[in-house]
Amino acid sequence: MDQFWNPVRTWVGEGAAARTAEILREMGACGKDVLLLVWNSALLEQEPFASLLKDSAFRTMPYCFTASNPTVGQLLEAYRQTRSLRPAAVVAVGGGSILDVGKSLCCLYGAEIGSEDELRAAIRNKTLPSPAARWIGIPTTAGTGSEVTCWATIWDPDKNAKLSVESKENYAYAALVDPSLATGMPVSLAVSSGLDAAAHAIESYWAKATNTVSQGLALRAIDTIMRDMDRLVSGDPAAHLSMAKGSMMAGLAFSNTKTTACHSISYPLTMRYGIPHGAAVSMLIAPVMKLNAGLIADLPSLLRALHLNSAEEAGPRIRGLLQKAGISASLREWGAKEEDLPELAKLGMTKGRADNNPHELNEEIILDILRSIY
Ligand SMILES: NC(=O)c1ccc[n+]([C@@H]2O[C@H](COP(=O)([O-])OP(=O)(O)OC[C@H]3O[C@@H](n4cnc5c(N)ncnc54)[C@H](O)[C@@H]3O)[C@@H](O)[C@H]2O)c1
Ligand SMILES: [Fe+2]
Repeated sequence: MDQFWNPVRTWVGEGAAARTAEILREMGACGKDVLLLVWNSALLEQEPFASLLKDSAFRTMPYCFTASNPTVGQLLEAYRQTRSLRPAAVVAVGGGSILDVGKSLCCLYGAEIGSEDELRAAIRNKTLPSPAARWIGIPTTAGTGSEVTCWATIWDPDKNAKLSVESKENYAYAALVDPSLATGMPVSLAVSSGLDAAAHAIESYWAKATNTVSQGLALRAIDTIMRDMDRLVSGDPAAHLSMAKGSMMAGLAFSNTKTTACHSISYPLTMRYGIPHGAAVSMLIAPVMKLNAGLIADLPSLLRALHLNSAEEAGPRIRGLLQKAGISASLREWGAKEEDLPELAKLGMTKGRADNNPHELNEEIILDILRSIY
């Protein structure tokens, strides 16, 4: 028997973000401190956030976090600068990086953390307390699905590691998925985020931990994203709604299954060469699909959702999308040296991801995969 559970209420569509104040009221944040965490200070002058700052029902403090792929040090700095507020609610408006920082801060506010080492140890040993605040996720990329998952990725480049702040109590109170926030986004970011979302759904579909509900959501997510990918690449803003819907459905799917080999192998590629998360993950979809093919319960349904006739078409299709969006699609172009590959293969065995892949993974297999995208 399989099971599925996700408590996040979702609103998707143009204008969804305008519900922020109404939801804060419903959460009981009236008369309380609210942290408004944004990826870009220009958002603070745009609706609905400009009105929220003026709304006397809440004491709203704006905080701009501009970094991508947040590190332990950057998270500690955001905690130090906002902890005196002890907000009742955090409204996180941004890509996966900002959602993950907002989500992590909710857990950090209940803790006394004095140094980077203490924070690193608390995340690693899972000793952070229950969240002291609730959060609302408003994604501006489509995306990571972080608005509907209960874990946050915090990077630790000094230790060559990727950490996860994880708590079943820390799902968002609500997710407001508004495609108008993606207006003006560079095509390269839109495509790499869209392919990240597709990878979440694809990996959720074939994960060892997959379940009936996730599989349904995953197929619908993949179809919704892939049928509009060419429009997205050509810069048609109408495609942002499909990406918003698809990435949220993908997020719901993998919130209950986690990801597999593509994500596991991708982390050192992002850490070492700065390859955007979505680009790193999507380069790995085709070789991992080839590895897993015989173990995927219903491969024809997956291929139909991908709008492909065969698994062999996956590599050229994804490479083509990346290249048209101006994103390098091989490790060599990202500056990797062939002699780096064995070390990357070692780092590619991420706990909870590698062991969730239907086909066994080991360093030798990962090395072959890395060679195939070199
Ligand atoms: N918690 C989860 O469930 C989960 C899942 C997948 C990935 N992640 C994490 O999310 C992070 C990546 O998130 P991401 O891919 O959304 O990128 P991001 O949040 O790092 O943003 C990428 C860049 O785009 C900018 N940006 C954001 N929104 C924009 C917009 N509307 N228009 C123009 N520019 C915009 C950002 O400022 C940044 O420079 C990684 O750290 C990854 O590990 C988390
Ligand atoms: Fe991802």
